[in-house]
Amino acid sequence: MPRSTELLASALIALAALSAVPAALAQAPAQQGQSAATQPAKPVVDDPAPGQQPGGIQGQNIFDVKPEVKRDASNDPGYMDQTNGQRNAVQPGNNAPMWRDVQRGMAGYSSLPRSQAPEAGVLIQAPVQYPGSRMTTAGEAWRQVRNNWLIPYGGALILISIVALLIFWFARGPIGHNEAVGGGGRRIERFTPFERAAHWTNAIAFVVLGISGIVMAFGKFFLLPIIGGTLFGYFTYLLKNLHNFFGPLFAVSLLIVIITFIKDEFPRKGDMGWLAKAGGVFSKSGEEPPTHRFNAGEKVVFWIAVVLLGIVTVGSGLVLDKLIPSMDYLRSTMQQAHMVHAVAAILMICLIGFHIYLGTVGVRGAYRAMREGYVDEAWAREHHAYWHEDIQAGKIPAQRSTQQGAPLTEPVRTA
Ligand code: HEM
Repeated sequence: MPRSTELLASALIALAALSAVPAALAQAPAQQGQSAATQPAKPVVDDPAPGQQPGGIQGQNIFDVKPEVKRDASNDPGYMDQTNGQRNAVQPGNNAPMWRDVQRGMAGYSSLPRSQAPEAGVLIQAPVQYPGSRMTTAGEAWRQVRNNWLIPYGGALILISIVALLIFWFARGPIGHNEAVGGGGRRIERFTPFERAAHWTNAIAFVVLGISGIVMAFGKFFLLPIIGGTLFGYFTYLLKNLHNFFGPLFAVSLLIVIITFIKDEFPRKGDMGWLAKAGGVFSKSGEEPPTHRFNAGEKVVFWIAVVLLGIVTVGSGLVLDKLIPSMDYLRSTMQQAHMVHAVAAILMICLIGFHIYLGTVGVRGAYRAMREGYVDEAWAREHHAYWHEDIQAGKIPAQRSTQQGAPLTEPVRTA
């Protein structure tokens, strides 16, 4: 072979050897994966990115991944028990075992400290079955309860309550007589300034919470189509912040309302008779059975809506606001608190809606009593006969607060 031909041949061999290196490197991950299942780990062959030195983080080019390297891999006994490494050895790129673990709530690595995020590293919560949901991952189970139960049935209950009140209004009209409101008799202090302040603070907070809650839960059905996405977004954002702010105010004022009124809310003579006759609202004479300061209907609303549902709504709301100290705020905590909060709040809206109806247009003179504090003694006789008797007998003072709002002789204005 002439010298020049010899040189050309050696150059070609060297070139061929060089060009074989990338191919060898490209096959390395697959070989490495195959061996992982069967042999002890071999030294890793690096696959540096173009222009990079070997070493550091190992990548895998998606175009190099050959799915179904072993076509019958899924027939292997123990296929379902494979670890992610074993699965990748037979089916490179198949990460099903890893995602199955993630779905089971397995913790992985996260840069968040546990002190800030107790569930750091847990991407998906473990499966659970909430009442009304299927057995599935907790986030999805909560979503099912919210979307399949709370929203449709809660919304329906609120609408049914509104329709029931409308029917009651048209069928029965306002309870009580105008003459009793402005009878020109002695003025009796029904609510002291402190009682009214506590009541109205609580009532205003409740209305803000009720409206913002209803828009947050149901607004996308009745408001979004009218005002459009942008306005609805800003509006709901504002309401959400108002909701968070008024929650604690409602909590404090609710406690004060409970403490203020509880002494007159215990069962007393006349309550059973009042309940048996449904307050006389369906009787021909329209006469109310005698009661003490509050009737049995008010007492039922007090114990169920104000005390029971109020405490549950406030308690779960404080959890949602993360205001309870030294509590672990996990996602499951928030989901459960949300479901409890929504149920209690919807029931409370329906019952307090009934209270608001009776306190405004439903009973003549009731709203004025809570606004001004005074009722005519004819009103007291008509609606709370035993309470009136006690005032007549001097057992209860007609004027309880020291602040004299108006001379006791001044008649209440006619409605
Ligand atoms: C706009 C909303 C509200 C209005 C218009 C309203 C109106 C009234 C009126 C007129 C009374 C006097 C009834 C009477 O003389 O027997 C009253 C009493 C009372 N209200 Fe309200 N209220 C509202 C919201 C609330 C809320 C949110 C709560 C508590 C969660 C509440 C708790 C009470 C309590 C405890 C009483 C004492 C008598 C009873 O137990 O029913 N109110 N309210």
